[in-house]
Amino acid sequence: MNINTNSVAVVGLQWGDEGKGKIVDLLAEAADVVVRFQGGNNAGHTLVVDGEQTVLHLVPSGALHADTTCVIGGGVVVDPGVLASELASLRARGYLVEPGSLMLSQEAHLILPYHKAIDQARERKRGKGKIGTTGRGIGPAYEDKFARIGIRAGDLLDRDGFVARLRENLAEKNAYLEAMLGEGALDFDSVLAELDESTAGLLELVADTSSWLDEATRSGSKVLFEGAQALMLDVDHGTYPFVTSSNTGTGAIATGAGIAPSLVGRVLGITKAYTTRVGSGPFPTELDNEVGESMRETGGEFGATTGRPRRCGWLDAVLLAKAVRINGVDGLTVTKIDVLTGIETLNICTGYRDPAGEPCDVPSTVAALELVEPVYEQMQGWDEDLGAAQSLDDLPRAARAYLARIEELAGVPVDVVSLGQDRSRTLVLEHPFGV
Ligand code: IMP
Repeated sequence: MNINTNSVAVVGLQWGDEGKGKIVDLLAEAADVVVRFQGGNNAGHTLVVDGEQTVLHLVPSGALHADTTCVIGGGVVVDPGVLASELASLRARGYLVEPGSLMLSQEAHLILPYHKAIDQARERKRGKGKIGTTGRGIGPAYEDKFARIGIRAGDLLDRDGFVARLRENLAEKNAYLEAMLGEGALDFDSVLAELDESTAGLLELVADTSSWLDEATRSGSKVLFEGAQALMLDVDHGTYPFVTSSNTGTGAIATGAGIAPSLVGRVLGITKAYTTRVGSGPFPTELDNEVGESMRETGGEFGATTGRPRRCGWLDAVLLAKAVRINGVDGLTVTKIDVLTGIETLNICTGYRDPAGEPCDVPSTVAALELVEPVYEQMQGWDEDLGAAQSLDDLPRAARAYLARIEELAGVPVDVVSLGQDRSRTLVLEHPFGV
């Protein structure tokens, strides 16, 4: 077990939407810095404080704490228009008004209008075979990063260089949009004018966040790394190709934040008490029936970014154990256990069988994963309302047994239990910062 409690990583263990934003907001109370290290505004982190809801897509979920510095690391892809408007609405409410309270890595790649156009046009063209992306240009922006033609936040500081690269890239992207995707070309002057407007207020945020974070961590600041999406959407370890275009796990923190791997401390993995996924792709424990429907209704399972209904199903402990292993999870947060109230018998998937009926591991292809049969273990449900519980002992025996079984199957302790959207509805059994 990792004993460095100066830094904590919060990572998703399923297909996203586990409630990472709420937990990061809660833990940010004890943190000096909150860092996003991958993904972009495909994320939608919902925070509810005293009944007031804030949805953040790019700004780290520490934004509501006055003394917390928020950092957008170099591994994030940033849509300047989205960042500018998110920042403006937070500032209008009195958050992030201090200079230096939000920093943007000079190495963060920008999501540009042609990335969004390509993402959306490709999805339209794919029709039924679509990935179900958020349409925010995430994949095309990461493609350009790795093709070494991306434009980074730091490039905005050299106006002539930025304009020249934009012109060159747009010519190439327009050719692709027109010839391959049958779309209209984007107009250079309009694209530039849009970017000039959205980036004007962002220039002052651009910084060498890698050095700054190294210094902060080594001088004893408490740092929280906020994952977006989750391991089953990881471009390497998820249900490829129905994944996002970044590495989403603990392994991405060092590269995405620009810090030494040894500076990553305790890892808190977040899982719902059941499973959801948005977008296409295999989902072995999906419930296409009234139980799944009741999870969606009770749990408010509609995307924070796109509003799409989420697919719902039983907890899949096979995938959970895989995500715990790859992320090096030290402790779990189990969210939304209150949503299961009233379901008489609960199922947990503890294994898979292949089409021949033989026990099997998680297959690496989606075609094979589509065909596995989940093996279920049944557990007794409960009827009591969990919302008012102040400690684990206040939970009904069946709910405690359910949590204990998750611990056994995941092989790590449950550190935090979330019983509702509000910050106050949380049982912190073991604080990851050790406070
Ligand atoms: P992209 O990240 O927009 O390219 O979308 C790729 C896949 O990841 C799609 O299935 C999306 O629905 C899913 N996805 C991306 N971000 C999130 C998220 O924050 N929560 C849940 N699913 C996400």
